[in-house]
Amino acid sequence: MFITFEGPEGSGKTTQIRRLAEFLREGGHEVLCTREPGGTPISDQIRAVITNLENTAMHPRTEILLFQASRAQHVEELIRPASEAGKLVLCDRYADSTLAYQGYGHRYDLEMLRKLINFATGGLQPDLTILLDVDVEAGLRRKQKGSEWNRLDAYALEFHRRVREGYFELVRNNPERWVVVDAGRPPDAVQSDLRQILTERLAGK
Ligand code: TYD
Repeated sequence: MFITFEGPEGSGKTTQIRRLAEFLREGGHEVLCTREPGGTPISDQIRAVITNLENTAMHPRTEILLFQASRAQHVEELIRPASEAGKLVLCDRYADSTLAYQGYGHRYDLEMLRKLINFATGGLQPDLTILLDVDVEAGLRRKQKGSEWNRLDAYALEFHRRVREGYFELVRNNPERWVVVDAGRPPDAVQSDLRQILTERLAGK
């Protein structure tokens, strides 16, 4: 099963996924945690190019293609084989990040992006996507306190608002794939929701 986690900056995805993975492993599941951009050595090298603060001249189209290049390798080398082998693949960001950030955020044509994503992923879609939703300003403040402050975080507040609204629209367009969790609450409450969602899903409810 392939499960992705999405959300605006500072939604606490990374920590939540790590804790959820521990819980699922204790329950006897084989779990693979991974993230985008990145997840394989080649994809991580591409990530380094995308996030390098010195690459201020990077054109948005270049960035879009690098995200897809990183993703293509990630899907074929890691996600698809692990998912087909029966593992639970938990992925921190996936194709919906491209639609939310490059599509709704940077206003690139969504249909064009969908075609690129389809090419990059060979059509692999998540079985379940969890949106860890958090207020834009609260999320950015939280993120600033964290360690990794990269070029991507420096975009204007308005951009992040469009990203968040974009996620809501993606949920509306495909409600059966998405579950929205309010990540503005204390971490333990968020984790408890995630465990319940996964427990129900795995029981086939
Ligand atoms: P990261 O430091 O991993 O952020 P986070 O902890 O919020 O996930 O950086 C990933 C950044 O890349 C984040 O700002 C979202 C952005 N991104 C895109 O713009 N498009 C994409 O397709 C992906 C996967 C990420």
